[in-house]
Amino acid sequence: MKQTTAPRTFRVKSFGCQMNVYDGERMGEMLSARGIVPAPEGEEADLVVLNTCHIREKAAEKVYSDIGRLTKAGRAAGKEPLIAVAGCVAQAEGEEIMARSPAVSMVVGPQAYHRLPEMLDRAVQGERATDTDMPAIAKFAALPERRTSPPAAFLTVQEGCDKFCTYCVVPYTRGAEISRPYSDLVTEAHKLVDGGAKEITLLGQNVSAWSGEDAKGRAVGLAGLIRDLAEIDGLARIRYTTSHPADMDDDLIAAHGEIDKLMPFLHLPVQAGSDRVLKAMNRSHTAESYLKLLDRFRAARPDLALSGDFIVGFPGETEAEFEETVALVDAVGYAQAFSFKYSPRPGTPAATMDGQVAKEVMDDRLQRLQSALNRDQLAFNRARSGQRCQVLVERRGKRAGQWLGKSPWLQSVWFEADCQIGDLVEVELGEAGPNSLEGRVLAPARA
Ligand code: 5AD
Ligand code: SF4
Repeated sequence: MKQTTAPRTFRVKSFGCQMNVYDGERMGEMLSARGIVPAPEGEEADLVVLNTCHIREKAAEKVYSDIGRLTKAGRAAGKEPLIAVAGCVAQAEGEEIMARSPAVSMVVGPQAYHRLPEMLDRAVQGERATDTDMPAIAKFAALPERRTSPPAAFLTVQEGCDKFCTYCVVPYTRGAEISRPYSDLVTEAHKLVDGGAKEITLLGQNVSAWSGEDAKGRAVGLAGLIRDLAEIDGLARIRYTTSHPADMDDDLIAAHGEIDKLMPFLHLPVQAGSDRVLKAMNRSHTAESYLKLLDRFRAARPDLALSGDFIVGFPGETEAEFEETVALVDAVGYAQAFSFKYSPRPGTPAATMDGQVAKEVMDDRLQRLQSALNRDQLAFNRARSGQRCQVLVERRGKRAGQWLGKSPWLQSVWFEADCQIGDLVEVELGEAGPNSLEGRVLAPARA
């Protein structure tokens, strides 16, 4: 076994969803707590954590090519880095990665990454370790406290998924639905705000399935949690993602009309517009029930911006069924959306279904769907132009004096102002592009 010196610098590379971004931040905090510092931009790190995503194609191949690149760059620089593979590819294919890639010394699943420091000690001794256990929620308690937070912070409230959509690996890689306890979340939210967060996005693979008991022992759902978090002074905005249409209850719909701090934005994946396809996907909703649900949300909050996820080319999807997806998009008028070509994931029921759709057909459908979605995104942005709103300043723009932030509807807004990161500034939205809007500052509101 080859021993190595303890790493001084690290880099965490996160792929995929916001949950991974959150996990990546927490791993970074753990390493920092050990005195290991983030590697400066452009420099090779002594320790690299590849925080992987398994949701779509070629995930594992990407990991192997990243490992190859890192080893080569390390050799050229005279020192190969320690490599840890984390995230959902680690969970799904950890043993294979260990067997195939001697350069990897740690494989750690999404529910086990609190053990990373311990694994690191062993890796420095030349020992390789895999930990893909899925213990209930233990990791959060084992993570170090958070000291500083970005203005728009993430808070994982729920993990895992019990829905078993037939195309999806999440129930296998992230495991069963687990809700973090109410009191832990309230405490962590306070810490985020104390550390500088103005906005908190509550994260979960199926976040609306969150449930818990409040301080008085009463059963509460996501809406109850949002209501209580809205009481935190200094917290200006709350968002949540991702939801499944089956778990959106009356209380959550009402919350959108009642809680000012809950931003007018809803990411509610539908995946397809054909009821036959939805059934084959095991989605437990129809196109019509989805549209009716959106009507109820819009009745509670008329300016609600809607976002969705779509899959084209699910096995057996016909041209006419695909057109039903486009018709649904036309009916909704999404403010933004994510659309993907179906990718067969090993071990999922859809991967072995008849009628796998040819790549060229999927390419064509994706392009047509995306042009409809882009059209609506631009229309949504244009319709907001002239309106006043608050923008949370998140980072500097490319030019001096220019800043970038998010509107309540999660649009990127750039503007010129004398402000700082974390400020909430009052702007009038101006010219709108497909991905961003220009803002004219009316008043800097230092919160
Ligand atoms: N192929 C393509 N897209 C997928 N998604 C999940 N699994 C697959 C798959 N096998 C998409 C869904 C989901 C989003 C996070 O990723 O649209 O909502
Ligand atoms: Fe995957 Fe469906 Fe669960 Fe979303 S709801 S994580 S798509 S199984």
